[in-house]
Amino acid sequence: MDTEEPESEIGAVDATIASTAIVHPNVKLGRNVVIEDFCIVGYPPKGVQAGELPTVIGDNVTIRTHSLIYAGASLGNGCHVAHHVMIREHARIGDNSSIGMNTLVEHHCVVGRNVRIQAQAGLAEYTTIEDDAWIGPRVVTANVYHPTCARAKECLAGPIIRRGAIIGGHVFIAPDIEIGAGAFVGAGSVVGRSVEDRALVFGVPAKKIGTVDGMRCPFDMITGSPYAAPKEEEPAPAKTSMQVPLMDLSAQYQTIKQDMRLAVDRIILNNRFIGGKELTEFEADFARFCGAEHALGVSSGTSALELVLRALEIGAGDEVITTPHTFIATAEAILAVGARPVFVDVETATGNLDPALIEAAITPRTRAILPVHLYGRLAAMDRICEIARARGLRVIEDAAQAHGAALHGRQPGSWGDAACFSFYPGKNLGAYGDAGGVVTNDAAIAKRVALLRDHGRTEKYVSSVIGFNARMDTLQAAVLGVKLRRLAKWNAARRRIADAYRTHLAGLPVVLPEPAAGYEDVYYVFVIRARAREALRKFLNDAGVATGIYYPVPLHLQPALASLGHGKGSFPVSEGLAEEILALPMYAEMDGDKIEYVASKVRQFYESR
Ligand SMILES: Cc1ncc(COP(=O)(O)O)c(C=O)c1O
Repeated sequence: MDTEEPESEIGAVDATIASTAIVHPNVKLGRNVVIEDFCIVGYPPKGVQAGELPTVIGDNVTIRTHSLIYAGASLGNGCHVAHHVMIREHARIGDNSSIGMNTLVEHHCVVGRNVRIQAQAGLAEYTTIEDDAWIGPRVVTANVYHPTCARAKECLAGPIIRRGAIIGGHVFIAPDIEIGAGAFVGAGSVVGRSVEDRALVFGVPAKKIGTVDGMRCPFDMITGSPYAAPKEEEPAPAKTSMQVPLMDLSAQYQTIKQDMRLAVDRIILNNRFIGGKELTEFEADFARFCGAEHALGVSSGTSALELVLRALEIGAGDEVITTPHTFIATAEAILAVGARPVFVDVETATGNLDPALIEAAITPRTRAILPVHLYGRLAAMDRICEIARARGLRVIEDAAQAHGAALHGRQPGSWGDAACFSFYPGKNLGAYGDAGGVVTNDAAIAKRVALLRDHGRTEKYVSSVIGFNARMDTLQAAVLGVKLRRLAKWNAARRRIADAYRTHLAGLPVVLPEPAAGYEDVYYVFVIRARAREALRKFLNDAGVATGIYYPVPLHLQPALASLGHGKGSFPVSEGLAEEILALPMYAEMDGDKIEYVASKVRQFYESR
């Protein structure tokens, strides 16, 4: 074994290192670096050997007395580090930035170029500061709301301070929020919510008091607030000009950008795009989240369904009972393995498979029941599983819309033989591309799916059965890993939004999705049943409110499934729902103004009729 420590490239040209300073191995020093008395550079963090992590100090960097730079940190050219600064491992400081006296830059902080950080600032792990920002003395950032929680470390998310923002002295910035480009945060403020670009905010809690462009001289005390610009204050945006999307993945990205970039970057830098640690970690975490033994990443929700059907050896001549009120993929997977989908109508209130109608559809060829947990509400799994048990049938859950939903505390995967998830981007847990998952407590199913998703391979070039390329790629696993940590929080936000809708829409001639005892819903979409649905949809669209219809054509009336021989009237509840259902905007980041706006437009529509 090669035990030699990498040498530091010290003083390539003109480095001035005080005799009392310590420079550990594997520190790459640029030209004209000055390291003053009692500094330590390249100090190994806990659990890391000296020299194991490279430390990079650019050209013309000055590090004043008593500063401590951990191994794995990097400082760009021209940086100035004042006295008694601590910069932790994996922190990155861009060119020409300065770090004030006594400042703590925690690990994984990213500081851009030409940033000024004044004395005694404290930057929590994963704080990002973009180029040209100015951070006043004693600014503190935070990265977790509940530091003593056992899983706190999984939730770390520092704020992002955008390019050119100015943060006054003694400001506190909460975790996971964004201070917009060029924004100005008045001294002493406590910032608990994201700040728009070029907004001027101030106070405890910080509120918007104007814009940077409308700011007056701070010495003009007539206005009451030293920063306010009374005349040019921006008018509140007219509510009629509001745009509300059906879902907003950009808003979500703003809250996870930093973690996401690090996660994706890591994979690209490691050149490891298939399999790997990110996939196995995500699988373990998702299984734990679902309360099940096994989770397997696959290429889509559709392939998850097909792989489970194949793992259960369901194929030609078999029948699978399912719902016509779903996305085409549910039936497609059954047909793909050669079996026949047998539709059973749904309950009016939930759109889920009606258990009272299942028995009548069972024949000697029936092998499985495949309920869909539509809109984020579990199907009546207690009753469905009871029927399946009594009749010796398998149960495959289509959980594409139900990440984190539960009935009597049990999530998909612990009811049926296996649950199939879609991680399509817009789902409650969505990848940045196609991805899916199989969750099961049955080790044999897990083993078979693992084999089938990867060409039936038992060794790199040895296949025991003919399978597929239906793997989840590493990038998607990493993306999902970042999002999974927030899923419970996002689902809780969706439930709050649903409650707010129910309050604001009460008394209108629409049928709302209501909570039910024992069910924990996750509102993949918030679907109402509306009279004059098409006219309402147009009215909302004209008012800037996007809506959706899940699904306008029941499966038994799909041209692609005509060979099944169903006609209009075969499944009247599903057909009735297809005429009335309307999904209103629903996403975890949706704010109260938007909810009220959508509800006010629905109200306006019915009041004008
Ligand atoms: C109920 C249902 N089943 C299956 C699928 C298929 O998932 P994917 O698009 O990931 O293949 C979806 C996706 O929208 C779905 O909503």
